[in-house]
Amino acid sequence: MPATIVLGTQWGDEGKGKFTDLLSKEMSMVVRYQGGHNAGHTLVVDGETFALQLVPSGVLYDHIVPVIGNGVVVDPFVLLAEVDMLRRRGITTDELRVSGNAHLIMPYHQQLDALHERHLGKSKLGTTKRGIGPAYADKSMRLGVRMQDLLDESIFREKLRGTLTHTNKVLTRVFNRLPVDPDALADKVLSECLEPLAPYIADTTDLIHDALEADQHVLFEGAQATFLDLDHGTYPFVTSSNPTAGGACTGTGVGPRHLDRIIGVAKAYCTRVGAGPFPTELHDDYGNKMVDIGREYGTNTGRRRRAGWFDAVMLRHAVRLNSLTDIAVTKIDILDTFDTVKLCVAYEIDGERTEKLPYHQSEVHKAVPVYEEFPGWNTSLAACRSPKDLPSEARRFLEALEQQVGVPISLLSTGPGREEYLNLQS
Ligand code: IMP
Repeated sequence: MPATIVLGTQWGDEGKGKFTDLLSKEMSMVVRYQGGHNAGHTLVVDGETFALQLVPSGVLYDHIVPVIGNGVVVDPFVLLAEVDMLRRRGITTDELRVSGNAHLIMPYHQQLDALHERHLGKSKLGTTKRGIGPAYADKSMRLGVRMQDLLDESIFREKLRGTLTHTNKVLTRVFNRLPVDPDALADKVLSECLEPLAPYIADTTDLIHDALEADQHVLFEGAQATFLDLDHGTYPFVTSSNPTAGGACTGTGVGPRHLDRIIGVAKAYCTRVGAGPFPTELHDDYGNKMVDIGREYGTNTGRRRRAGWFDAVMLRHAVRLNSLTDIAVTKIDILDTFDTVKLCVAYEIDGERTEKLPYHQSEVHKAVPVYEEFPGWNTSLAACRSPKDLPSEARRFLEALEQQVGVPISLLSTGPGREEYLNLQS
């Protein structure tokens, strides 16, 4: 059976969790492939809100095996807290599996993340300070400690001592901070995390392949988004992993031949948290209205998001980078009371029009959006359940968006609830 990816096409917070949850009905396994607890997925199920950071959204279904793949960086304390929260609310986590190859986020990674940000001053990236960058940096430097190391106390202690020989020099000599005692940290992690987490640690690559060979449908759940990708995003204002489709392969150990559908989730407008270029960003009442009505504050950090019109130039690029088969548009209802809605179809850079995202970042910073304007629909879309229920103005906007982006819109979300969506392909 083939695999499907659901990923973000903008700068994150597109509402991917809702569609992952929706598609979960047909899936046997849902796999996170990158990022860590910098992600925040909010799901509303039967009026109850679940905010998940690490555990795949599919956990809310009994028939799903939720998997945290090798490409994810895992803070064991956060994982434990999330598992406890789910259990307290009656959700079973017995089937959860975490790759033994996933790297651990340790408290010193979070400390370094905050120190790096402070050191950058005005040039700070606006990270989530969850230790994501430093954990991936240790992985690349071959200094990381992995989930599987937890299973052998002497190896775990040895690896912590090794990595802290390096990190303590950075903490003390570069940042003038106290060193971390590797044995005290090992004691804490082993005593608090080993027993409850050990049953979840597994060879997830093998598990996923077994599922595919048994004709089960596997869903890869992306966190963050295309333009936060370490290689293809608006570097350096990016995260330290690969949310793009290729990351689903490296972050799980499954080759691209298994992928048959790659769904890009896009908000009907754009938002971004943290610093970095954002050509269609608004600093006016329209932008404030998007933030207010769309409740554009981080699930995770509570930060106010920047907001602007839908950018088809970026989306066309996202289609290419990810081989998107279709897009799922979210939060269209946030535009319900707008008199006008706009779509950025091209940029003007130094007086020249371009329909492509310039590869050179300085040009992206100079890009002036060229908009197509559409009359608003001025009515609630909440009750729409089929394409014919949509007002003609909303249909015109979506048709233009689809034409600009170049792949079909398959799903449209009209509200936060599980049932508030339209299947446009039926
Ligand atoms: P980091 O991933 O914490 O290192 O942060 C790097 C950049 O990615 C910052 O601009 C963050 O605001 C952004 N970022 C990280 N995770 C998310 C997310 O889940 N949604 C939106 N932005 C994110």
